[in-house]
Amino acid sequence: MKVLFYTPQSDADVWLHDLSRVLPGVDLREWHPGDNAPADVAVVWKPPREMLAGRDDLRAIFNLGAGVDAILKLEREHPGTLPRNAQLVRLEDTGMAQQMSEYVMHAVLRYMRRFDEYDRLQAEQRWHVLEPHARETFTVGVLGLGVLGSHVATTLAAAGFPVRGFSRSAREIDGVATFAGEAQFDAFLDGLSVLVNLLPHTPDTHGVLNQRSFSKLARGAYLVNIARGAHLVEQDLLVALEQGQIAAATLDVFVEEPLPSQHPFWTHPRISITPHISALTLREESIAQIARKIDALMRGEPIGGIVDIGRGY
Ligand code: NAP
Ligand code: GLV
Repeated sequence: MKVLFYTPQSDADVWLHDLSRVLPGVDLREWHPGDNAPADVAVVWKPPREMLAGRDDLRAIFNLGAGVDAILKLEREHPGTLPRNAQLVRLEDTGMAQQMSEYVMHAVLRYMRRFDEYDRLQAEQRWHVLEPHARETFTVGVLGLGVLGSHVATTLAAAGFPVRGFSRSAREIDGVATFAGEAQFDAFLDGLSVLVNLLPHTPDTHGVLNQRSFSKLARGAYLVNIARGAHLVEQDLLVALEQGQIAAATLDVFVEEPLPSQHPFWTHPRISITPHISALTLREESIAQIARKIDALMRGEPIGGIVDIGRGY
């Protein structure tokens, strides 16, 4: 079997080395522009269009992340880019769910206990005690109840927070009040203290974090965006912060990454920034999952994580 590999990141050699260890006997090579030689499977992160276009020999494309928006954007902008016979397969969890839960728990506790405000008080050398928010009424809403969102929602509920979750189709999760579909979106948002976004980025979810959504939350609510930058209408957040409708935001993802040095988010006193690290792709876990799935595919067995191209995730 022939496997093509591509990542724009600088650690391609390490991935190739580790992949070759778990895929012995496989003809593995890094893709370079102009390489049109046959391949059965591709393992990729943010591939250029030329790598995929016209490759009708590919049977599967394994995406080195949970989100497939970068690949599906290529297909939307240049229909026919995705090989006709290939299934697109994303990572399922591979250690990301726990990382996401840690990230969200940290942000939610920080806001509940008002540590963000203590940071600002310290900068002013002010000794001042603030009343914490009450956990029983500090309701957290999780947008997206898939592999990552459902883990985050369950973790928050186990810690005693009132939790709501929103998905496209109806879901049941112990300890979580669930809402589904556009008709229930406002009821989901109504009066939330914290809004956490873990939706995939699709044409339907583009710009979902906007002035209208913010206006449904409790006054002085908090925002945690750990999915994709394009979910957020950036100007609407700046206005909502200015007006006090949003008290503070924790952002891990941005329309443009790295976040440009002049961007107003960098210096905003109520915005906390991390560089797209809320859930890193863990190499060992990811390679093990991909190897298991390649094996299953070769035996003609079904695998999970196949992307529904029409749905966009
Ligand atoms: P997933 O398992 O596919 O779950 C997606 C969830 O979103 C599902 O519950 C789905 O509803 C819901 N959804 C999709 N479109 C919707 C819509 N239009 N309205 C309402 N709900 C909708 O995805 P995942 O593995 O949890 O990953 C989620 C996203 O996290 C990824 O796509 C990626 O963008 C992001 N991510 C970010 C990082 C980071 O480091 N910042 C790392 C990993 C992933 P159904 O349940 O009804 O299908
Ligand atoms: C990272 O952002 C991912 O989609 O896995």
